[in-house]
Amino acid sequence: MESAILKTENLSAYYGNNRVVKSVTLPFYERKITVVMGPSGCGKSTFIRCLNRMHELVPGARVEGRVYLRNEDVYAMDPTIVRRKIGMVFQKPNPFPTMSIYDNVIAGYKLTGIKLKKSEADRIVETSLRQAALWDEVKDFLHKRGTFLSGGQQQRLCIARALAMEPEVLLLDEPTSALDPVATARIEELMEELSKTVTIVLVTHNIAQASRISHYTAFFYMGELVEFGPTERVFTVPRDRRTEEYLVGKFG
Ligand SMILES: Nc1ncnc2c1ncn2[C@@H]1O[C@H](COP(=O)(O)OP(=O)(O)OP(=O)(O)O)[C@@H](O)[C@H]1O
Ligand SMILES: [Mg+2]
Repeated sequence: MESAILKTENLSAYYGNNRVVKSVTLPFYERKITVVMGPSGCGKSTFIRCLNRMHELVPGARVEGRVYLRNEDVYAMDPTIVRRKIGMVFQKPNPFPTMSIYDNVIAGYKLTGIKLKKSEADRIVETSLRQAALWDEVKDFLHKRGTFLSGGQQQRLCIARALAMEPEVLLLDEPTSALDPVATARIEELMEELSKTVTIVLVTHNIAQASRISHYTAFFYMGELVEFGPTERVFTVPRDRRTEEYLVGKFG
């Protein structure tokens, strides 16, 4: 059995009295890509935002149940440390518009008040941009603004910014849905490469993408985890009728 680096136990999430994630127990295996799929509004984004304690930042929002990172209760940890160890990338590329490419990469350090020596910052910037497969394209103008890049490059910059904090887990919420097919293919390649060192949780509506690159698939429906297993099994012999209907495009 593979080891789960991250897992939830009976995790529920609320907005006020509205329970939108319902008692989900799910493992995330180390250095694997786990896809979270399901129809719009079924709670995917809310669920993954519970994993790194972003959900509680919404006024009136609340979490029940447990999240463990390497058997440590995430809700008993310092949230800043949790968000360092569990990085996040969103649907729309969101580099800080007034910052240079260089400063965007190390923004996480600045925002949390960690001072870096110039040599150390240089090293982190280069390593992170290389890991995000962006270094060669930007190395000659690191001091230009990040927003000057193409959409796909901006998304890779956001991935570099997350990687700069040396996370153990990377949460990606529909990272390619705002990108064209070429930029999407590059990010898919990148996710596969990154999964050799980082555990990846990917929310996607793109069924072909899920089947191409993920190792495990979790299927959500109306806040519940309906099905979880190796992607190949879930895609070829779904156990739940709702998973099957989603995969053949009946709803979603
Ligand atoms: N900030 C919020 N305040 C109140 N309700 C919210 C908030 N964000 C989401 N919800 C509700 O929680 C439920 C789950 O939303 P969520 O965004 O997690 O779904 P999703 O699966 O990510 O959907 P999509 O595929 O469209 O991104 C929905 O009913 C949504 O209306
Ligand atoms: Mg969402």
